Amino acid sequence: MAKKISKRKKVYPPMRRGFIDVVVGLQWGDEGKGKNIDALLSSGNYSAVARFQGGANAGHTIKFNGKTFIGHIVPSGCLHKNIELNIGNGVVVDVVSLIKEMRELKDLGFDITKRLYISNRAKLVSYLHPFIDQADEYMRNKSKNKSISKIGTTSRGIGPAYSDIRARRGLLLGDVLLPDFKEKEKSLSEFHMNILNMYKEKYGFEIPEEKIKEAKVKWQSDLKEIKKLQICDLSFLIQQRLKAGKNILAEGAQAAMLDIDFGDYPNVTSSNTLPANLCLGLGVPHTAIRDVYGVIKAYTTKVGGGNFPSRIQDPELEKLFQSAGHEFGATTGRPRMCGWLDLFALRHAIGLSGVNKIFINKADICLSDKVKVVIGYKTQEKNSKKVLKEFPLYLSEIADVVTEEISGWGNKNFGVSEKKKVSKELKSYLNYITKKLSDLNVKIISVGTGPDRDHFFEWEK
Ligand code: GDP
Ligand code: IMO
Ligand code: MG
Repeated sequence: MAKKISKRKKVYPPMRRGFIDVVVGLQWGDEGKGKNIDALLSSGNYSAVARFQGGANAGHTIKFNGKTFIGHIVPSGCLHKNIELNIGNGVVVDVVSLIKEMRELKDLGFDITKRLYISNRAKLVSYLHPFIDQADEYMRNKSKNKSISKIGTTSRGIGPAYSDIRARRGLLLGDVLLPDFKEKEKSLSEFHMNILNMYKEKYGFEIPEEKIKEAKVKWQSDLKEIKKLQICDLSFLIQQRLKAGKNILAEGAQAAMLDIDFGDYPNVTSSNTLPANLCLGLGVPHTAIRDVYGVIKAYTTKVGGGNFPSRIQDPELEKLFQSAGHEFGATTGRPRMCGWLDLFALRHAIGLSGVNKIFINKADICLSDKVKVVIGYKTQEKNSKKVLKEFPLYLSEIADVVTEEISGWGNKNFGVSEKKKVSKELKSYLNYITKKLSDLNVKIISVGTGPDRDHFFEWEK
């Protein structure tokens, strides 16, 4: 018997010496994932960075040596010349954004052509998807039905692109290299035009013909560039890399509260943003995952529609956070709503994500003497309010929040990179959060004090 087991061991599991770490957002997006990913890549531990879900709805800012780059679809390792950039099968690829970003990077001195690998199973965003996205939002906005409201999407065609895949009519990146691509694309575009005509007839939403033509021409011309890139079986490639002892950093986009299953549905994005999805979005086994890094801000922000239980109630104070934190969307430029740290939502996100290490960003920003922290949610039950144990089905059920008030941590920690130089108020805020999460087996490993790669100090070893 013992002999038999050792024989099987030789073939299964396959030899794998490398591992995958993953970085995900734990709030409503824009936590500073791009900065943390860029910094982690400096460690020399990874050979590649890989996007596994979402699309050009993401906006990941990286700043280094006075250069700023916002990646919507290009992974955040682009400023590291020795790092491979992977776009996995779980991503919906906006080819116009991809080509635009590649040009921007070239102008910054980073030609990524040779180190970019895109899965042939990645999904193609068509030139009509953004229009359908806009039409759907228009319809929602006009709807008299109170249960339907605008989602406030990024208008990047994310929902329609994922819908087409689920309905099994969408196009894959690998299709662009096949002889029947034109035919497939034509029939999908006809289908899309029927949808747009329905929106026109039923809801009066119309896209001018020239605009559609212009988008088509641009898309088709960028597709020619896409065909020259390395479109491959990325799952196979990554598995080879792991076998060879190389490590990969997976790059989450959006965040837990925007996850289609566990976020504030329906005010979410159309993909699973949780780390569990990295296996499916890259084509790798869960046994390859080592560390799960979760990113938060010291407060909370949110862009788009939906519920935001910890939103700062004083509009003047919210504006102060917004302007000091430069809280404007990296993709759409929309102002981000600002709220207090929401530990109830954070604990929900940590539980779902299996996070073991946390990055806190924006600890250099605080503009009030006292800050609140949300530690619970309440619903209205007849004449009284009930404190919830579990995360509610719909966040719209929340009638009130349970808060604690502690001293603000001041605005004087910009660029601090040593724990001993941190203001005492910030230290006590971080001690407070550490204590509140102490039962969850997570460590706050680093705290951001500015937008640059080296604007951080280590907190827990
Ligand atoms: P992502 O989508 O999670 O990558 O985050 P975004 O790039 O959309 O938004 C984060 C913003 O905060 C960017 O403008 C970053 O340059 C900036 N940022 C990140 N970390 C810090 C920090 O610790 N302090 C300050 N002041 N800005 C930060
Ligand atoms: P990163 O990766 C913040 C939000 C939109 C909208 C909802 C659905 O930069 O953190 P979609 O276009 O995905 O259909 O929009 O999700 N959203 C984000 N908010 N950061 C993001 O990405 C986001 N990506 C989508 O504002 O509310
Ligand atoms: Mg962002």
